[in-house]
Amino acid sequence: MEYFTTTSAASRRAVDCVIVGTYERNRLGTAAADIDKASGGALKRLLKTGDISGQLGRCAVLNDLDGVKAPRVVVVGLGKISAFDIGRFRKAFGAALRAISHTRCRQVLNGLTLEDVSGAGPYYLGRHTAQAVGDVMYRFTATKSGKKPPQMPLRKVGISVASRADASKAAKGATHGDAIAAGMDVCKELGNLPANVCTPSHVARTAQKIARENRNVTCKVLNEAEMKRLGMHSLLSVTAGTKEPAKLIVMQYKGKPGQKPIVLVGKGVTFDSGGISLKPGPAMDEMKFDMCGAASVIGTMVTVAKLQLPINLNVVVPAVENLPSGIATKPGDVVKSMSGQTIEILNTDAEGRLILCDALTYSRRFKPDTVIDVATLTGACVIALGHYRTAVMSPSADLQNDIVAAGVSSDDRGWPMPLGEEWAAELKSNFADMANVGGRPGGAITAGCFLAKFTDGLNWAHLDIAGTAWVSGKQKGATGRPVPMLSEYLLGRCGALP
Ligand code: BES
Ligand code: MN
Ligand code: ZN
Repeated sequence: MEYFTTTSAASRRAVDCVIVGTYERNRLGTAAADIDKASGGALKRLLKTGDISGQLGRCAVLNDLDGVKAPRVVVVGLGKISAFDIGRFRKAFGAALRAISHTRCRQVLNGLTLEDVSGAGPYYLGRHTAQAVGDVMYRFTATKSGKKPPQMPLRKVGISVASRADASKAAKGATHGDAIAAGMDVCKELGNLPANVCTPSHVARTAQKIARENRNVTCKVLNEAEMKRLGMHSLLSVTAGTKEPAKLIVMQYKGKPGQKPIVLVGKGVTFDSGGISLKPGPAMDEMKFDMCGAASVIGTMVTVAKLQLPINLNVVVPAVENLPSGIATKPGDVVKSMSGQTIEILNTDAEGRLILCDALTYSRRFKPDTVIDVATLTGACVIALGHYRTAVMSPSADLQNDIVAAGVSSDDRGWPMPLGEEWAAELKSNFADMANVGGRPGGAITAGCFLAKFTDGLNWAHLDIAGTAWVSGKQKGATGRPVPMLSEYLLGRCGALP
């Protein structure tokens, strides 16, 4: 997508469509006021008749307004002016784009601003404009036959700004947002693909393709024999019941020679049936999304590589399928992890931590500055936080705060959850160094505490995205989260944010 900025009045730009907004109580946004004036009060008249309103997300498409160069104006409701924030901007702008998604519009000018949102300047206007465009443009077609839904022919998106100085900030935001959208696309596509297509081998091939197509990115894939030699018996215990070969995918991006890397580790369970501790039937199909941690860290790699950020980033993805069979791992089995610690597997459905612990141990070889794992780890996390916030756990309050703050500014929010001795004590086992499950209460935290046993001495954080990685119901699909949060954190780490 091509982005441009403009300081000229919305009414004077000859684009296919201009998007303007109106708040509740008939308060027109800057561009809407300009359109209203140029058209001799057309918007104010429509407000009076109720054809347009400030109701958040409500859209009206107006054609051929007098005095307006663009043949189409979308007026979108922005809600209460005092409540307007980035989340509402995304909702409103997304609704406006969807209102014209069936048209032949090739260029759109975004006349909405964030000047009524504290803390969000022109950079974030550019960012979220581009991210919203990416969101609306994404279509899943890979496993549909017949006539595919037409792709929006949108080519060029403009962003209205107040000054030249704002223009360069908005342009930078749009560049970053476009790269984040590209990362989210990769994340969504991997997440949405069914498990019979998106196998560990498919994830590995996707990572290798990304490495071929992006400068300074390499990819190495370890097979089961190599993992066995490394002593990754915890990881391998999860794949025992399936014919799909497990893969350990290692991507490296080098953008800052000599600096310690940041390592992102993503849970890549391409299907989680629970194994011998079989899950109940309802919604089990959604366990194809159990590789969304992997998808998000690979997506973030795409974002970083597209922007060629001055940073070193490694991505480690343990990719496996968790199925029951006659040779699957059984409850009560004891395995030795790569760290040397032994684990009593009391529940084969707590498999994410079994693959992550070996991947985290493997990450030590990079002498990392920071390690962040991302996983659809526990149903308990969904109970704790719902579908709105990613759980952020870390023994380092600084790292935890930085990640939560990155979630706020990218509007891909997280929430801090604790780690502690009390929960860790639930993992005591009579037969091994630890068990892989504790009790049901606080299950997301116990899972974090399990991982903490493998990250001693590392600057490490754990993100549980079980509630945020995908949505269920009619709109079922991967969300692309937490690519924006991770990207924001990395942009901040290399000083690329304003
Ligand atoms: N992948 C699931 C977690 C999950 C469940 C994510 C539902 C999103 C929606 C994970 O592997 C799992 O099965 N966890 C168990 C852990 C339990 C056995 C301690 C869970 O949450 O029930
Ligand atoms: Mn499971
Ligand atoms: Zn799982």
